[in-house]
Amino acid sequence: MIYSRISGTGSYLPERVVTNADLEKVVDTTDEWIRTRTGIERRHLAREGETTLDLAEKAARRALEAANVAPGDIDFIAFGTTTPDLIFPNCGVMLQERLGCLGSPAFSVETACASFMYALSIADKYVRCGESKRALVIGAETLSRITDWSDRTTAVLFADGAGAVVLEASDAPGILSTHLHADGRYQEMLYCKGGVSRGLAEKPAIVMAGKEVFKIAVTKLGAVVDETLAANGLERSAIDWLVPHQANIRIIQATAAKLDMPLEKVIVTVQDHGNTSAASVPLALDAGVRDGRIKRGELLLLEAFGGGFTWGSALVRF
Ligand code: UT7
Repeated sequence: MIYSRISGTGSYLPERVVTNADLEKVVDTTDEWIRTRTGIERRHLAREGETTLDLAEKAARRALEAANVAPGDIDFIAFGTTTPDLIFPNCGVMLQERLGCLGSPAFSVETACASFMYALSIADKYVRCGESKRALVIGAETLSRITDWSDRTTAVLFADGAGAVVLEASDAPGILSTHLHADGRYQEMLYCKGGVSRGLAEKPAIVMAGKEVFKIAVTKLGAVVDETLAANGLERSAIDWLVPHQANIRIIQATAAKLDMPLEKVIVTVQDHGNTSAASVPLALDAGVRDGRIKRGELLLLEAFGGGFTWGSALVRF
């Protein structure tokens, strides 16, 4: 039996830091409102000319180094993003060229904040069926490019960053299960206006009915957590670490409560980088691994929820 195992993690945040106090000068908001309603304290924004691909390459090289895998040995790239450098070619192909691992499959997955969970699930299946030995899974965004900086309901939330994992074929279980979902009835609640086929006349910008998204996110994430445990015949107490999507500390707290987990067993990074969509789960995972909290052999539950709606989870023996 072949399994896929996470052999290395990496992440990258742009150098430019924008605090809540900085945003008070841009929109009608306060540090107090942002902290108490979202948990966000600061975020990182890409400088002019710095792209999603640039952030992804840095995160990918760090993950490769951690896994002790040469870039040229990667044989599969699944790249989760909603803010690609170009309409085409996809960011996976562009990253392949930068890393010099030409010829094997490379593509992007565009399922908003759940893009990394979808990319991880697809890559896991390719490794398990024997078609990939070493896959690179990316979540990277420059959401600052599709943020309406005059809209305080979204401008304080979204930001830029990248995370990556290397998945390798292994005899021992690594990724135990993945669970993906989508429900297109909710597309009006969270979307980016402006588009290709509908016309590029409008400047792309994130539109969100925050309160409604919040409620459904809590419900769906609670359900997918239950589904993940049931599929593996596990009790809630079996999970060592929850590595959640970093959108809002209150959503994270609700999911942790569902798992009966104290916040000390949850990797929380939303205060440092806001909502980085596809990048948020691998950013949190890498933070927990690098600061020594997440150890080899521990059981992790990863989850994310985003526009579409799309959502998903993964149970991982690290
Ligand atoms: O990652 C993809 C999934 N996305 C999410 O999971 C995001 C889900 N939603 C949320 O995280 C929260 O709903 C928000 C953080 C977006 C909003 O928090 P909320 O507690 O649901 O606030 P609200 O939308 O009910 O707004 C409460 C008040 C409103 O004023 P009134 O109508 O009560 O006078 C807003 O106009 O807060 C006001 N408000 C703000 N005030 C200061 C909204 N944004 C701001 C702001 N600064 N930035």
